[in-house]
Amino acid sequence: MHDFYSDTKSIPTKAMLKSIVSAPLGDEQKGEDPTTAALESRVAKMLGKEAAVFMISGTMCNEIAVKVSCQPGDEVICDETSHLLNFECGSPAAISGVVMRPLQGQYGIFSADDVREAIRPESRYMPISKLLLIEQTANLGGGAVWPLEIIDSVMSEAKSHGLITHMDGARLLNAVAKTGIDPARYARDFDSVWIDFSKGLGAPCGAVLAGSADFCHKAWRHKQALGGAMRQSGVLAAACLYALDNNISQQAHDNELAASIGERIKRLDQVIHMHPVETNIIIFDVSAEAPTAVEIVERLKKRGVLVGAFGERRLRVVTCLNVNKASGDSLVAELTDVLAGGN
Ligand SMILES: Cc1ncc(COP(=O)(O)O)c(C=O)c1O
Repeated sequence: MHDFYSDTKSIPTKAMLKSIVSAPLGDEQKGEDPTTAALESRVAKMLGKEAAVFMISGTMCNEIAVKVSCQPGDEVICDETSHLLNFECGSPAAISGVVMRPLQGQYGIFSADDVREAIRPESRYMPISKLLLIEQTANLGGGAVWPLEIIDSVMSEAKSHGLITHMDGARLLNAVAKTGIDPARYARDFDSVWIDFSKGLGAPCGAVLAGSADFCHKAWRHKQALGGAMRQSGVLAAACLYALDNNISQQAHDNELAASIGERIKRLDQVIHMHPVETNIIIFDVSAEAPTAVEIVERLKKRGVLVGAFGERRLRVVTCLNVNKASGDSLVAELTDVLAGGN
């Protein structure tokens, strides 16, 4: 199978798995796992933060950041396409009792003006605007990279109103590969930020949430409360350390492969719109005359190619270390045939 469904499907390489065997281990819940500690301090440094906490997933990083930063009745401002709003089971409401204020950005990116308009005045009866979230890169925005100047203006607007700020950096390193901007610079003004290891970095699971020492102390308590504390978590952290040592350059390859596939898909007659392809995600729409997205997914699957349906006629293709140029050529050839009516 040529698997373009998501970079979450990246399979750990043999070398990564080998790195696990020799990892020194201890009880993480007691702060005694040296491999996990090494990963946390490495990510904290990389993101320019005081401390970091290893979590089982990016979803847990988002949910715990909301829990640490908000009280029930507070409001979280984010883009309408954000993972936090759409794919986390309504947990901001269920776990933290917050309401969400979705903004209509372009390709997942909103402006300082949008933030200013969304912030609520002090009031006896409105929710309290508390936390601002951005997603770097914006997944449903087609992997769009938040430009630094927009981040800076949004941060300055948010901070001037006393908001807490959080970056969902699931694919921050794809943005870094694209722009060459240091991850710590992107993260500079955020109170909390995390990166995911189970996507382009190729680890089986794990994400690291960074912030101040006080933030991380509170995050640890919530991790424990939610059952996320682990024991010999070094077996997972070792794979993440391996990824930092060996797989960061992969993000640039993934971005380049997506650009080349996107260029070719864009030229197909039935493709009526494509989000700008900036990193490793391609989102495109097909015309009403073409098969539906679900039909296209099914037909491609029979031909050994996996992609995702994200709307009636919207499809998503994601590159990661599972696929290469030859897989891209197969995808384009099979898609061309399916769009021309092939079964
Ligand atoms: C932008 C974004 N945020 C958060 C997540 C959640 O990460 P995880 O799958 O590690 O829980 C994802 C997963 O696809 C994502 O794309």
